[in-house]
Amino acid sequence: MNERVARHKTAMSRAALSRPVATAIRDSIVTEKTSFFDYGCGRGDDLRNLAALGYTVDGWDPTHRSSASRRRADVVNLGYVVNVIEDPQERADTLREAWQLANSVLVVSARLAWDARGLSGRPMGDGLVTRNGTFQKFFDQAELGRWIQDQLESEVYAAAPGIYYAFKEATDAQSFIANRVHTYRPRLRIDPHEMYEMHAAVLEPFLAFMKLHGRAPKGGELADESVSAIKEAVGSLGRSHQLIRKVTDDDYWDRVAVQRRSELLVYIALSRFSGRPRFNRLGPTLTADIRTHFGKYRDACTQADRMLVACGDPAIVLVNARTSRVGKQTPSALYIHKSALGELPPILQVYEGCARALSGTVEHANVIKLSVTEPQVSYLTYPDFDHDAHPTLASSVIVNLRRLSVDWRDYRRASNPPLLHRKEEFLGADDPRRTLYSRLTAAEQRAGLYAHPESIGSLLGWTQAVQAAQVKINGHRLFRL
Ligand SMILES: C[S@@+](CC[C@H](N)C(=O)[O-])C[C@H]1O[C@@H](n2cnc3c(N)ncnc32)[C@H](O)[C@@H]1O
Repeated sequence: MNERVARHKTAMSRAALSRPVATAIRDSIVTEKTSFFDYGCGRGDDLRNLAALGYTVDGWDPTHRSSASRRRADVVNLGYVVNVIEDPQERADTLREAWQLANSVLVVSARLAWDARGLSGRPMGDGLVTRNGTFQKFFDQAELGRWIQDQLESEVYAAAPGIYYAFKEATDAQSFIANRVHTYRPRLRIDPHEMYEMHAAVLEPFLAFMKLHGRAPKGGELADESVSAIKEAVGSLGRSHQLIRKVTDDDYWDRVAVQRRSELLVYIALSRFSGRPRFNRLGPTLTADIRTHFGKYRDACTQADRMLVACGDPAIVLVNARTSRVGKQTPSALYIHKSALGELPPILQVYEGCARALSGTVEHANVIKLSVTEPQVSYLTYPDFDHDAHPTLASSVIVNLRRLSVDWRDYRRASNPPLLHRKEEFLGADDPRRTLYSRLTAAEQRAGLYAHPESIGSLLGWTQAVQAAQVKINGHRLFRL
């Protein structure tokens, strides 16, 4: 027990039955036929009053009746005990100990948040220490039910505000529900969506991990403080996973798994270039990912090697480029913004990865051209891609996979450099810039700027088209002159 709180002072004397005991009698939970044990009975007023009414009773309290033994009984009452225990672990243990003694029903009551109104005290843990030195944790009704349910892993039933019943047998729970037609209170169903909303912020790192890896994180894969916060809020990592799966679409997770599988294949395929590591050298997260999505590393390596072979086949590259959901299609190539590379079909990601293995990362390159007529990947730099509606090419690095050559071309002093329009086509499917760029493209189309596609691919042709259409482009907006 914490030295700073005075639990012994929490027990009050009362002449009448306590509310939970009276409620249990009203609901026929406590009858003359049932044995009753008051766990944490305080000064024993309920015991005395019940005995006087002819009930079979006994009780124990660590302060006021410590020499009594803790016995099993049909009904065990844990009346306003859990709210005076400041240590959450001890609080949960006490609940479970009382549950162990119940043959049939445990009646749990605690003070509710509204009891705290007007009460002043010093905050401590999840409650406060009142003026007379006692600790009080004030629950919300639903929070109390959820906590009992989680600790006992058994359904609980709200008997009254601040009072819950937990039954050992489902049949007893059913007869309780059936018997209280006149005093019906709806069964507490904890809606997983509500539960998720309540703990969304705490669960965020867990969810982010799942989105990235297509599986639930293991203990060491999240920061310690996140794990503690999650355990406190939801109970365990396993429960967090179940909760997230309940409130999200299976379909979404199937797609994440497919995506993660291809990322791993691309990684494993490209790891050939630096000498593919043995499985036990991959690190715990990567090995867990591979186990989850492939089972065996060997199978993943075989599939990855097939991809490497496939991306050397021009017909396969062509089919993959033409069926790509992202990127700008031209007769000889597929162009894509670097932010959308992860959305390319895996074969094309390996194709691009092979080129990068040769050239290294081309700094500042933001558009990648995947040729479909020869094994060639070009890394194009458009320094003003974001700000200029029609950025011009500054330089390109061309990697030829047949010749194993890397060339560089500089357009910065060119009088008529290549220029981009329809920028949205280079971006990923969910890229937020698409809306702005598409709106401009639609306006340009209406203004007739794309009437002669053969001449607008470079700066001079485009400038002439803009002048001829008597329009002006400012930022990403078109104005008629
Ligand atoms: C607010 S009183 C309630 C007494 C009684 N059940 C009632 O309803 O009048 C809280 C009681 O919980 C007892 N208590 C404190 N820690 C306990 C624990 N770990 N196990 C059982 N009882 C405990 C205290 O001794 C105190 O008598």
